[in-house]
Amino acid sequence: MEIRVRWRGLDRETLTTPGVKLSYLLTKENIDFPFPCGGEGLCGRCKVKFLKNPPPPTPAERRLLSPFELGEGVRLACCAVVEKSTEVELLGERTVVPDDFLLDLASLVSPGHPPREGACCCALDLGTTTLALSRLDVCQGARISVEVMANPQRVWGSDVVSRMGASLEGKGEDMVRVLWDLLLPKLEGTSYLVVAGNAVMDTILAGYPVDSLARYPFESPFPGGEWKEEPVPHYFMPLVGRFLGGDAAALLLVLDLMGAERPALALDLGTNAEVLLVTHRGVRAASAPAGPAFEGVGITSGIGLSPGAVTRVEKGDGTLAFHTLNGG
Ligand code: FES
Repeated sequence: MEIRVRWRGLDRETLTTPGVKLSYLLTKENIDFPFPCGGEGLCGRCKVKFLKNPPPPTPAERRLLSPFELGEGVRLACCAVVEKSTEVELLGERTVVPDDFLLDLASLVSPGHPPREGACCCALDLGTTTLALSRLDVCQGARISVEVMANPQRVWGSDVVSRMGASLEGKGEDMVRVLWDLLLPKLEGTSYLVVAGNAVMDTILAGYPVDSLARYPFESPFPGGEWKEEPVPHYFMPLVGRFLGGDAAALLLVLDLMGAERPALALDLGTNAEVLLVTHRGVRAASAPAGPAFEGVGITSGIGLSPGAVTRVEKGDGTLAFHTLNGG
């Protein structure tokens, strides 16, 4: 019997025998559908919709799905047993980044602004809390210097949710202004700037409203991958999707340029943390606000890992000796 599976751009037909659990079929077909409770029939989140021949609901499905959903052919992939040829639509988001995303990136950065001999460009890691501005000689492929500084937008909150709130209250332009006020003097003599930030930081700096990022399905109106000419020519790395911004794309690009073997795991641990797992089957990526854990924001005692932070304590003969970062 024939089963056709559709899932946001994926369209697969497969043959099977009656009496097979749909979850088994999806796994066999290498379809990376999430089973949040491990397929135990507890969470009710592996929803699918049978467009033809829905199987009779199991007790778990009766418990976890509404009568309306059951009437519409919605079932749970970990419970439903397929007895007849059918068409199934998987509900929920597909989070696999297309593998060719890696291949596209390298060609994206220079169009329109080919490097000139001796020209210097800058790369900005636009973090929620911290900015890292690297000066680069693109012709030599060398980093000339790097400057790390606090993001002046911190006055509008220490995390992306607060920044979105401030932007929704009409503070977006102010946030953009303070950032350029800080950066422009440092960019003198620079041909262009490449910006890699999380989705919220990028969207705000590009001057777009963040409303759609603040509610389901959490999409940015700004896809990135664009040049802007004012106040200096600057390029935004493409946003990978949802809360995976240009910084995630930059991580993928670095892995690509390094020729990293797969599987490879890339972590960008900041106020907003990105995790990317690159395998031969594609890229799995996620992000989450890590809050102050890595940056020391909002703590009432101590400091983050900056000069002066205690890195080691040694107990002597009735004494304690402290070692600090950079001796600060
Ligand atoms: S994975 Fe939790 S109910 Fe199916």
